[in-house]
Amino acid sequence: IFSNSNIGSKTVALEIADLILRKQKEGKKCVLGLATGSSPIKVYEELVRMHKEEGLSFSNVITFNLDEYYPMDKSNIQSYFYFMHEHLFNHVDILPENVHIPNGTVKSNELHQYCIAYEKMIEDNGGIDLQLLGIGRTGHIGFNEPGSHFNSETRSITLDYITRADAASAFLGIDNVPKKAITMGIRTVRKAKRIILLAWGHNKSLVIKKTIEGEVSSKVPATYLQHHKNTTFVLDEEAASELT
Ligand code: F6R
Repeated sequence: IFSNSNIGSKTVALEIADLILRKQKEGKKCVLGLATGSSPIKVYEELVRMHKEEGLSFSNVITFNLDEYYPMDKSNIQSYFYFMHEHLFNHVDILPENVHIPNGTVKSNELHQYCIAYEKMIEDNGGIDLQLLGIGRTGHIGFNEPGSHFNSETRSITLDYITRADAASAFLGIDNVPKKAITMGIRTVRKAKRIILLAWGHNKSLVIKKTIEGEVSSKVPATYLQHHKNTTFVLDEEAASELT
């Protein structure tokens, strides 16, 4: 628990940078699972600063993003493709072929195969070394909404009404928020060797309490993380305020 999200984000960015450097020294790739939304923005800001001011290279980094709205064009400013390039990829030396974000333009009859291939690509790269997560007020991680199975993999999902309401302002009205998304599954996330979940602010405090202190249940999919052996929740005081 940090006094504010700036310090928390810098600490997380430092852990990511250390991992990238360690893998570089070993001559290995570093596979990162990445999230979008407001929570990781300052982490990405700090990683960009480290690249520009301290020469942190992303040349050995391979990324897999958690999710994308469906359908969603890459050029749409609401897309997670756009978000990731705006906040991180356009400002560091990552190789474009090492960036993977679920493709919101895949034809619906090819979606199932596409999701299987996304999952296989993660496996073929040796699995995720470090997975960054935010959390939705429904308890979703990625877009694994309540009801998601412990063993779910990358697939299309129907977004919860609360999730769409939370995204409404960015889309200038709930009617413009896509009803579906492609998301890595709970099993995909659980297989990561290290998980860091970020939550800032009062509006996350109730779901954080349920996630950390509640019983493990598909009603709050983030509770599945209680069974992961190397997960850290990085919170500010407001997000932690309901914890006993
Ligand atoms: C985004 C994602 C979501 C968000 C969550 C919190 O890639 O997977 O689970 O992390 O909806 O969003 P923010 O950070 O905007 O509160």
